[in-house]
Amino acid sequence: MSFVSVADFEQKAKEQLERNALDYYKSGAGEQVTRGLNHEAYKRLRLRPRCLRDVSHLDISCKILGEQLAWPLGIAPTAMQKLAHPDGEIGTARAAGQAGSIFILSTLSTCSIEEVAAAAPETCKWFQLYIYKDRSLTQQLVRRAELAGFKALVLTVDMPINGDRRADARNQFSLPSHLSLANFQDELTQGFASQFGGSGLNEYVASHYDPSITWQDVKWLQQLTQLPIVLKGILTAEDAQLARDAGCAGIIVSNHGGRQLDTAPATIEALPEIVAAVAHDLVVMLDGGIMQGIDIFKALALGAQTVFIGRPALWGLAANGQRGVEQLLKLMRLDFETTMKLTGCATLSHIQPTMVVHESSFWKLGEFN
Ligand SMILES: Cc1cc2nc3c(=O)[nH]c(=O)nc-3n(C[C@H](O)[C@H](O)[C@H](O)COP(=O)(O)O)c2cc1C
Repeated sequence: MSFVSVADFEQKAKEQLERNALDYYKSGAGEQVTRGLNHEAYKRLRLRPRCLRDVSHLDISCKILGEQLAWPLGIAPTAMQKLAHPDGEIGTARAAGQAGSIFILSTLSTCSIEEVAAAAPETCKWFQLYIYKDRSLTQQLVRRAELAGFKALVLTVDMPINGDRRADARNQFSLPSHLSLANFQDELTQGFASQFGGSGLNEYVASHYDPSITWQDVKWLQQLTQLPIVLKGILTAEDAQLARDAGCAGIIVSNHGGRQLDTAPATIEALPEIVAAVAHDLVVMLDGGIMQGIDIFKALALGAQTVFIGRPALWGLAANGQRGVEQLLKLMRLDFETTMKLTGCATLSHIQPTMVVHESSFWKLGEFN
């Protein structure tokens, strides 16, 4: 089979993955309204291309938090990647490095911080954190990420508790016994098993993550480290302003791929108010629903400095390990370049907010009787 779109990788992944893993990867929370909106919202945006502007040479490189990157697409943190393929997070991190993209490693990874650092030394790596009830666990993860050369910490702030993930509850989702949460020892090593007949992940989050965390804990994290701190899971201008006031280096506008609060807005819908509020003060990034170059373009036009993919990288990994993620990133890059050329943009600075409009602006009420 030749892969010409992310959907082709997704199809292949669906054939490869076991039910437990596939449901965990693909599902959203509740009735999956937000999961669907993340994609549909892009389709409601129209592009206004410009023409006769030399696009024979493109420069799509960018600098994010001081790092020179080949293009504005990175890999969002997704847990337990060995469920997709034995290459796991090492495969994804290497593929990201080849593509000149940021790789964000999840706390709940199946390859450890040190393994990923040793296997992908050239990749720009950020580390994603949760704040554990036992603060010393979080503190140790911070130290290890620093020592291993990770360049930023990404604190996930949309998960005081696990979202209502019904497929995982039905499947009593847990990690198979040959895999473990590689960043932990002792009782946290073996991942989680369902004790109460529901999702094992749900029970893990409830027993270990601290739902009492506040902006004070962001301050606590800041005094632990010199690394820049990025908050992931911001959906309102109000919280973006608090992140700025707390001295964060950046935010990722994210609804966790529709896996936490159902009927929260699509991230591309939430982006404009956040950009208007804080884009001059910190780096605004986005994830959720990005499937093609056109989506990257729209997010950039509306003010994101870079975007991330979650599930698409998992589909690449499931389809063909590290090589699958490499192929997927190549395809998405080519697609983004095509969009750049067809909209008349030779560099990222040519992408303007006026190039993206909501479909409703073409249909004024009463104009067509
Ligand atoms: C299977 C899976 C596992 C995830 N694990 C984490 C995680 O460990 N930490 C985190 O901050 N976000 C996690 N996320 C959310 C992603 O980082 C990201 O926000 C989301 O996948 C983006 O949407 P997309 O999948 O439509 O690209 C996970 C998402 C998926 C699909």
